[in-house]
Amino acid sequence: MRKIRLNLGQRSYEILIGRHAIDQLGKYLKKLDLGTDAYILTNKLIKAKYGSQISQALLKSGFNCYFKLVADSEKSKSIACVGGVINDIARRDFKKRIFIIAFGGGVIGDLAGFVASVYKRGIPYIQVPTTLLAQVDSSIGGKTGVDLCAGKNLVGAFYQPKLVLSDTAFLKSLSTRQLKAGLAEVIKYALIADKNLFNLLLKKRADILKYDPSVLEKLVYACSLIKSGLVSRDEKEALDKRTLLNFGHTLGHAIEAAGGFSKYNHGEAISLGMLAAIEISKNLELLKVADAQAARSLIKFYGLPEKIGKLSLAKIISAHFHDKKFKGNKNKFVLLVSLGKAKVVTNVGSEFIRGALKSIS
Ligand SMILES: NC(=O)c1ccc[n+]([C@@H]2O[C@H](COP(=O)([O-])OP(=O)(O)OC[C@H]3O[C@@H](n4cnc5c(N)ncnc54)[C@H](O)[C@@H]3O)[C@@H](O)[C@H]2O)c1
Ligand SMILES: [Zn+2]
Repeated sequence: MRKIRLNLGQRSYEILIGRHAIDQLGKYLKKLDLGTDAYILTNKLIKAKYGSQISQALLKSGFNCYFKLVADSEKSKSIACVGGVINDIARRDFKKRIFIIAFGGGVIGDLAGFVASVYKRGIPYIQVPTTLLAQVDSSIGGKTGVDLCAGKNLVGAFYQPKLVLSDTAFLKSLSTRQLKAGLAEVIKYALIADKNLFNLLLKKRADILKYDPSVLEKLVYACSLIKSGLVSRDEKEALDKRTLLNFGHTLGHAIEAAGGFSKYNHGEAISLGMLAAIEISKNLELLKVADAQAARSLIKFYGLPEKIGKLSLAKIISAHFHDKKFKGNKNKFVLLVSLGKAKVVTNVGSEFIRGALKSIS
């Protein structure tokens, strides 16, 4: 099993990565002494596939466990769902030794983390992510939250988990579309921070698309290492370090919103956002033409979307004005300067944005 320590003073924690890492969950939880009663937030599908594995791991170490199921949908990231879960926890918290386990993809992780942050002003929680996207990204770094009608992730808190345990054996049951959504984020890490990861993605495509466990473990490890480094240097995104993780997300979020959150999933929208950001980087002469071509080719190589199809440019541009990172009327983009290196640029001219969107129309 591979281990990474995310250093954040008293809020530091370990990220454990490996095939069948779940078998060791009880041992690590005992050391952490978070409580005796595990409240496992998950959905029906994940419980059916892996519920017995997690409960056995807990029971053999003497923990009590209870499964709370929420609907398998982004709709579970809602204030209504938070209310339901909190009331349920309060009913079960008679021994006052309860802690939460987020057992699922990013939806469950964001919801569980938020609930943990507000119930009794904060109780401990851990992340046991089961999608590639959650293992490489959403389970790490303590951004928790739910959506409002006015937009995604508008209510939330920075609240760090006490442990992240990524069992890469869970990834074998992901659909190809879900695997690729996670790979879009992996490509993001490669482009902004890791030329070796870029080369690995080029070399091992066939193995990755066949869910080869040892290569998937390498990907999860490489990405977790990059994210934990950036989070430990800039937990609350105050220094533009953590912001680098937003590469492809400024226009990606706008594309996701313009598609009504159904045409493209997050990873697909981010791929299109990365293609647009690469075009802007090239047109602003930050990135060499050949590097722009190589970056684009990697995204295409994994069969991620290349064109926005029938989505209206006006709708995307209007959605991008709602970006949380906008300060006043200044936009904020993460742009590439070479393969494996990125920087934050504010106030990118609208002609560059329009041109980039046209290049993927
Ligand atoms: N907090 C953060 O830093 C952060 C970062 C990125 C994304 N997010 C959030 O993450 C969410 C998206 O996460 P996601 O892509 O994991 O989506 P998701 O949680 O909806 O999971 C995708 C689908 O995969 C299923 N699934 C989960 N594990 C599985 C497994 N092992 N085998 C088969 N199916 C499985 C789920 O039931 C679901 O149907 C969004 O809400 C996004 O806002 C948060
Ligand atoms: Zn993302």
